[in-house]
Amino acid sequence: MAIVDTLRELTQRVESELKATDTSAALDALKVKVLGKKGELTALLKGMGQLAPEERPKVGAQINEVREHLTALMGDREAAIKKAEREAALKAETIDVTEPRKLPKVGAAHPITLVMDELIECFSGLGFEVMEGPEVELDHYNFELMNLPKNHPARDAQDTFYMDDNIVLRTHTSPMQARAMLTRKPPIRIICPGRVYRADELDATHSPVFHQMEGLVVDENMSMSDLRGTLEAFAKKLYGNDVSTRFRPSFFPFTEPSAEVDLTCTACHGKGCRICKDTGWVEVLGCGMVNPKVLEMCGIDSTKYSGFAFGIGLERIAMKRYGITDLRMLYEGDARLLGQIR
Ligand code: DAH
Repeated sequence: MAIVDTLRELTQRVESELKATDTSAALDALKVKVLGKKGELTALLKGMGQLAPEERPKVGAQINEVREHLTALMGDREAAIKKAEREAALKAETIDVTEPRKLPKVGAAHPITLVMDELIECFSGLGFEVMEGPEVELDHYNFELMNLPKNHPARDAQDTFYMDDNIVLRTHTSPMQARAMLTRKPPIRIICPGRVYRADELDATHSPVFHQMEGLVVDENMSMSDLRGTLEAFAKKLYGNDVSTRFRPSFFPFTEPSAEVDLTCTACHGKGCRICKDTGWVEVLGCGMVNPKVLEMCGIDSTKYSGFAFGIGLERIAMKRYGITDLRMLYEGDARLLGQIR
């Protein structure tokens, strides 16, 4: 084939190959194949030695013309490919500022905290003040001043963790009654929410750590009807007007008389169900008139003042409120449960 034809064929082939080339890498390969040291055009130049001397300048000029033409074409193609690649990269990196962002998972207050806050709000509305005290408590406050002297049988029900003979993890929030009476003057109207401890095994209804809210009122002429009225108001505020309270006689060394208070079961509205063990009632707190002996031990003149107290179990209320049937669920921190309660 005459060299002119070879050059034409080569030009056409490279032109069409260039059209199909759309990446820098493919273009570089094509450049090497055609214009490189071992490329096709170079091979043609090298082959010129076989031509008659008078033909050489003409053919050399033709080859150079083709080289310039193809070099220019490749340059244009390179610019186009670079531009397209830059645009593609920009597009891939584009941030859509209008796209709704993924919301971070936010935590929520724990059911016990929710209940505690609700009770605080309720009793604040009734004129009670919040007072907090130590979880590591002196035996003196936790037991002695609550009329539970050493060796009193009622201490058995409140076995706890002893730091030493005189320091315990408080078994109830009741020692706050003593702390309040010893530091304040009547009228006293306080609630004390907090964590309490007992040496109990963890099961569906017991935990070595749980929560209570103590209430104490000391004033002149306080009677059982003030206690009833207060707790009735609390129950209705918390559960609505359909709820009733039921007082059952009970025993606590620090109150006399003492009672346990049940509320209408909110699961069955008093008809009887599994939660209330078919009684229609759920026990939520212990209460009573402050034992005059306790008043006196805490420096309050029992001939002038009387008082009432109550201790509410917060886990009970939370379980009742959120339909939780196993106490342990409250302490497992399982987001599947906690995420449902806000
Ligand atoms: N402290 C008692 C307990 O933990 C609950 C209690 C009962 C508190 C009667 C009171 C009360 O203030 O009057 O079992």
